[in-house]
Amino acid sequence: MSADKPLGESTRAVHTAAEPEEKTGSVQVPIYQTSTYVQSDFAVHKGYEYSRTQNPTRQALERAMAELESPTEPAQGFAFASGMAAITTITQLLDSGCHILAASDLYGGTGRLFDDVLSRFGVETTYSELQPGDLEACARDNTSILWLESPTNPLLNIHDIAELSAQAHERGWIVVVDNTFASPTLQRPLELGADIVVHSTTKYIAGHSDLIGGCAVTRDPLLGERLGFLQNTLGAIPSPLDCFLTLRGIRTLPLRMERHCDNAEYLVERLAQHPSVTKLLYPGLSGHPGHEVAKRQMSRSGGMISLELEGGEAAARKFAKNLRLFATAESLGGVESLINHPWSMTHAATPEQRRLEIGVTPGLVRLSVGIEDAIDLWNDIEDSLGASVL
Ligand SMILES: Cc1ncc(COP(=O)(O)O)c(C=O)c1O
Repeated sequence: MSADKPLGESTRAVHTAAEPEEKTGSVQVPIYQTSTYVQSDFAVHKGYEYSRTQNPTRQALERAMAELESPTEPAQGFAFASGMAAITTITQLLDSGCHILAASDLYGGTGRLFDDVLSRFGVETTYSELQPGDLEACARDNTSILWLESPTNPLLNIHDIAELSAQAHERGWIVVVDNTFASPTLQRPLELGADIVVHSTTKYIAGHSDLIGGCAVTRDPLLGERLGFLQNTLGAIPSPLDCFLTLRGIRTLPLRMERHCDNAEYLVERLAQHPSVTKLLYPGLSGHPGHEVAKRQMSRSGGMISLELEGGEAAARKFAKNLRLFATAESLGGVESLINHPWSMTHAATPEQRRLEIGVTPGLVRLSVGIEDAIDLWNDIEDSLGASVL
């Protein structure tokens, strides 16, 4: 294999951080289920002292995430016990009295952290749609971070990561992008200029709805040093078993993403023509306001679809109840299809007025399209839509 030929996405996912273990030749990274490591003398060790600080299984996952998010330039990854643990740790880069500029459509738990926890430490957050000119209008002397998701949860809005990063950097801000909905298979924010990428690895990265995890990746050595310090100091690290399972998920990430996208496109095409669907949100639709930017910064549009039905909340409730293959549940990005009601579930923590302002209405449902056979998913949706007409 020639070193100057770049490897494809699937090859990298299979081979990243997959060197055989030295003692036995084990093809898979072992689960180093240990809290501590023997030292041959006081403070003389093999680079491992205590598993909050270093653990080989976690390091393999962190290396894999860094390589997937930044295939061409060195980067550092940091794994956490949940997406929220990763997000909380990143916010500890801020000094008290700082200001966050955040996209108005964010995962509800992220907004709750900003509004109900960081505010107690004098950190204020302004929410904005981040349209052209908004950075100028919202900037304050103490603004330190621009916080984005793209696509957003649950409205699937698209932010122009390259443009916003350039504008934020002119002002000396750190740009954080939550890449949970896209995964590095579809979008790599560090290549577009972001400083830190964060994930709920609970979702597409691990991919099987069997663990909770998070990750942050940066190319900036100084930010990497500070995140490493905070990871060890705050201690919200994942277990070795969860790191192993997440790494196992990574091996099939591009394969799964391809199927998630295929299935979502198949369903969107049909939902767009269904008379009961009054609103359909998917970045791959040519009428979606972020469609052109999505085409530039994402390789495909992902596996998430949000929609509203004729008959509002009551119809949405009936629709969810009648589905057989889509389970009603929080979370997304697993192999199985799920339906979620952001108003009462994932975004219940977002103040009601903000939910209504941004379009998270009581009638909105969010589909996480799994990797089942597309025709089965459509049959399920079509049957349920037919039975949901009020
Ligand atoms: C976009 C996004 N970011 C972060 C999180 C938080 O991740 P976790 O639930 O792993 O703490 C979620 C959870 O749904 C999410 O959807």
